Amino acid sequence: MDDLITIDRLTKNYGKVEAVKELDLKVRRGEIFGFLGPNGAGKTTTMRVMTTLTKPNSGRVSIDGLDVVKEGERVKELIGVVQQHLSLDRDLSIRENMVLHARLHRMRSTERENRIRELIEYAGLSEHADKMVDVLSGGMKKRATIMCALLHRPQLLFLDEPTVGLDAQTRRRMWDLVRRLNSDGTTIFLTTHYIEEAQALCDRVGIIDHGRLIALGSPLELRQKLGMVAVEMQGDNNGTRYQYFSDRAGATRFVQDIASQDQTIIIRESNLEDVFVELTGQKVGDA
Ligand SMILES: Nc1ncnc2c1ncn2[C@@H]1O[C@H](COP(=O)(O)OP(=O)(O)O)[C@@H](O)[C@H]1O
Ligand SMILES: [Mg+2]
Repeated sequence: MDDLITIDRLTKNYGKVEAVKELDLKVRRGEIFGFLGPNGAGKTTTMRVMTTLTKPNSGRVSIDGLDVVKEGERVKELIGVVQQHLSLDRDLSIRENMVLHARLHRMRSTERENRIRELIEYAGLSEHADKMVDVLSGGMKKRATIMCALLHRPQLLFLDEPTVGLDAQTRRRMWDLVRRLNSDGTTIFLTTHYIEEAQALCDRVGIIDHGRLIALGSPLELRQKLGMVAVEMQGDNNGTRYQYFSDRAGATRFVQDIASQDQTIIIRESNLEDVFVELTGQKVGDA
């Protein structure tokens, strides 16, 4: 697979706040890439630079070989962007919102009609397309926003925290939509602070903390590096301690050896939360 996004020593400051620090990252064509990190880590800032919405202080980002600063207009043709906060007009229907977006992209009216109908069906919104956005559920609004971003057939879709505020069932439905878009040929770059989302949805994950990339790989690779099996020791006063092992046999042997009465011991599969905690000493968030 070749690289679709190349980020080279990207730095972005807001006054004295160093939001992104010398970030290097490559995203491959065809993958679902997840940028995972706690609030304030620098995910949105990185995405805003990649999508031409803000300029870096230093470093470079290119998409399909095009520099996002120097060739921003051409980059915009290749990408679809869904920001965290809804960008729909609440007093219009889904269809009317899409017509507005299509006009912004100067789509011809016949092509526009067909494309809008196709996307409304794709997102399973046919029955709701003529209702005012205001009356729709959060999941429907989000799907409609994504469909607006897809009108001009971008090969790369950016999703900033696509499932924040959605309930568990709606979140899973959103994952299915993202997977379907990806298997139909769209490369996906998404940000999230949900461990489970990164683990379930992403081919590769980059973990970001305080503006720096601290780990990169598939969820499985990241867990393997740490150890696939976690032993959790819940002591009385000094909090929970963790130890990681490549397999259950090793973990079981360890537990037998420490055999102590006054702590609860749990053996379980490791996850990306463990990877994050090990690297930073902190939790990612409310995942
Ligand atoms: N427009 C802005 N002005 C000033 N500081 C900002 C701005 N946007 C983000 N920041 C700061 O930059 C850091 C990274 O923020 P952000 O990229 O939004 O993180 P994330 O999306 O991972 O939550 C935070 O410290 C945040 O407060
Ligand atoms: Mg953000």
